Amino acid sequence: MKIGVLASGSGSNLQALLDAQASGALGPARLVTVGANVAGCGALTRAEAAGVPTFVLRHGDFASRDAFDYALADALLGAGVQCVVLAGFMRVLGAGFLARFPAGVLNIHPALLPAFPGVNAQGQAFAHRVKFSGCTVHFVDAGVDTGPIIAQAVVPALEGDSEETLRARILTEEHRLLPLVVRAHAEGRVRRDGRTVRVDGAPDLAGAAARLRSL
Ligand code: GRF
Repeated sequence: MKIGVLASGSGSNLQALLDAQASGALGPARLVTVGANVAGCGALTRAEAAGVPTFVLRHGDFASRDAFDYALADALLGAGVQCVVLAGFMRVLGAGFLARFPAGVLNIHPALLPAFPGVNAQGQAFAHRVKFSGCTVHFVDAGVDTGPIIAQAVVPALEGDSEETLRARILTEEHRLLPLVVRAHAEGRVRRDGRTVRVDGAPDLAGAAARLRSL
């Protein structure tokens, strides 16, 4: 399955995908292009270093959101992309974009959705003084971080945490989870039925060991 990654920032999640591809841990998934809406962002440097083709489309250069979405989809489809992964891509994509990728558009979000959607999820969770947070990989729909959930990972918020230490703990789990989901999807193990998503071969969480308690 040919994967196109979109990013806006440092690209550490992209790096996790690149590393997984290099080690064979991405299975049949192939990263064929990386697109960014921010020229010079770290994600582009990382892709170039790994020999993955890149492109930049600046949203400010387009007259409307639809025009930007259309050009973005054209660029991805032109590279043969079947499935799009948003890895720190800070733009909302419209229904017209999503419809052009029937194999799905995936996003990684640094919170346990549906808690703390939108920007600075880690800061929102820290300010809320949650006991646990984590990350979510989900299919993208026309809302903001509202699409069907594929997988989540939980981390504790510890006494003495700063927003930064919580952010770093979540990010470590992002880097672990995203390649696993991309691989599972490329292997045809992600089955979607409305909001319900099953990942064949995922661990059974029914046991007592899966309980997380703060007391
Ligand atoms: C990650 O926390 C991701 O979940 C969020 O934006 C951040 C991007 O980090 N959507 P990076 O660019 O992958 O380092």
